[in-house]
Amino acid sequence: MARKPLISGNWKMHHNHFEAIQTVQKLSYQLTGADYDAVDVSIHPPFTDLRSVQTVLDADEIPIALGAQHCHWEDKGAFTGEVSPLMLAKLDVAYVIAGHSERRDLFGETDEMVNRKVKAILAAGMTPIMCVGEHLDEREAGVTEERVSSQLRAGLAGVSPEQVGAMVIAYEPIWAIGTGRTATPDDAQTVCATLRKVVGEAVGAEAAEGVRIQYGGSVKPTNTAELMAQDDVDGALVGGASLDPDNFSRIVQYRLGG
Ligand code: PGA
Repeated sequence: MARKPLISGNWKMHHNHFEAIQTVQKLSYQLTGADYDAVDVSIHPPFTDLRSVQTVLDADEIPIALGAQHCHWEDKGAFTGEVSPLMLAKLDVAYVIAGHSERRDLFGETDEMVNRKVKAILAAGMTPIMCVGEHLDEREAGVTEERVSSQLRAGLAGVSPEQVGAMVIAYEPIWAIGTGRTATPDDAQTVCATLRKVVGEAVGAEAAEGVRIQYGGSVKPTNTAELMAQDDVDGALVGGASLDPDNFSRIVQYRLGG
């Protein structure tokens, strides 16, 4: 079964809503119907931009999926500062990142919290992009695959095979995020293949075949094609290079030669 690639732009804490509107419009001028046929595209602006971006995507009929970077797992309640999955679903958000390493490392998200979010995102009818990844010391100690496999198993606990088969996993080696260092295509392939194997063991072969696995960490126009050429790499989660519409459109158009 061919998995359609998903290229996602994670803007992190960049672009106010005016800048967001401009960025999306510029991006839409660069991308063509052939691009959207070849690749699914999502953008993940900060919460304060979501409504503005949704309105532009809708009014101009731009086939870019709206994404969020984070959410809480409860539908509502006394959780000052948090945003619920239902609120995001109401804004036509399609994809929500869960367990980005910045959330894990800077804001204390645990595997258990990530698992709750994944389930809540699915229950609200959206698709989770669940991130896993190893720190540099873990890579150097040779425990990368063990580390990401345990994050993956914990994050998927109690999720049905059908749901896993339709979701997205992002392999993001933490030492490669925002550093300009990228995993080699071989390394990315090895870890993504391991993740697919773990999905197969945990929930079955069909889910393993369907699940899309992105690579993330210093993806740029010049390295996307070789990463995407790997069998088990089905997309990219792009941070810094997604802020600029020229760069991001070249990444989406990797098949044209960067
Ligand atoms: P980067 O970030 O592309 O800037 O390395 C990737 C991410 O954090 O999703």
